Amino acid sequence: PFFIAACARYEDYPIDLEQLSEEERLVIRFSHVVGEDTPKGMAARKFAELIKERSNGRIEVQVFSNGTLYKDMEELDALMREDVQLIAPAISKLTDLVPELSIYDLPYAFDSLEEVHEFTESEAGNRLKNLLKKHNLIALGLWDSGFKQISNDTRPIEHYKDLKGIRMRIMQSDILAEQYHVVDAIPRKIDFNTVFQSLKKGDVEGQENTLTNITSKNLYSLQKYLTISDHGYLGYFLLFNYDFWKKLSKEDQQLIIDTLKEVQEWQWNLAKELNDQKLREIEDCQCIDIYYLSEEEKKDWEKRFSPVYDYYAHRYGEYYIRNLPKNLK
Ligand code: LMR
Repeated sequence: PFFIAACARYEDYPIDLEQLSEEERLVIRFSHVVGEDTPKGMAARKFAELIKERSNGRIEVQVFSNGTLYKDMEELDALMREDVQLIAPAISKLTDLVPELSIYDLPYAFDSLEEVHEFTESEAGNRLKNLLKKHNLIALGLWDSGFKQISNDTRPIEHYKDLKGIRMRIMQSDILAEQYHVVDAIPRKIDFNTVFQSLKKGDVEGQENTLTNITSKNLYSLQKYLTISDHGYLGYFLLFNYDFWKKLSKEDQQLIIDTLKEVQEWQWNLAKELNDQKLREIEDCQCIDIYYLSEEEKKDWEKRFSPVYDYYAHRYGEYYIRNLPKNLK
């Protein structure tokens, strides 16, 4: 129903929008939970603009940010029901559905964002993405938020032992829970859009996130201490409802794939730049105590977290761990 006949190249056929019936227009509803000024929020807008321009306005990507349409725990179901056609959830939030994906949550699984990208494009990464298909989902790209840092209100976290007894907000992922269990902290799975309230009320004392998320939700205004630990990756799959995707014409699919590829490159640079910029802003504001883990300390933390790898391997096998770039070197 969505197709325009024989549209070989969009620019060859300028479209008179007035002439288009509702059926010929294609609307893609894209819901996400973060602010507009984050790497995800900005890339979503850019993707929508480019698609509109390149389809001469025939394809409209409607972006709903800040969880206004669906919250964290709702957006995946909404996508599976096709109430929305596209979401970009943190991969951690897909791990109840496809637990193998929690490989991305393992502490210090990746030394750099380049390693994350390499892994995602590898045979192991493709195998992982394919697991989503049987849930009627197709992953068509990866956007970065960046590496997570730890903030809290109780004490400076300079050593992993300092995490003992601290109630930490985490995303919905058992591996993230395990990461805190092994250092005797108390993980709590909480919806992203209620983290601020939960910190404020004292339900949790700390949280882990990327600097762009920490600043865009003003979380640091409630926290005394920040540890730059870079201990875990936070990134997103661009997930379409698979039935919806299969109904699109080959030309529309190609346009979306090409545009996503271009936006992805742009987004990766943007995420890096914004996280660096936010770090400088937080340093300059002198409103939170910052501790930077040295490379040596990071190695110590990584060692301490090795039971989390055992937990993963025991449940989901060794294959994905063996294929992490750091283990292939
Ligand atoms: C979180 O829940 O902390 C993040 O997944 C939010 C996001 O989408 O970046």
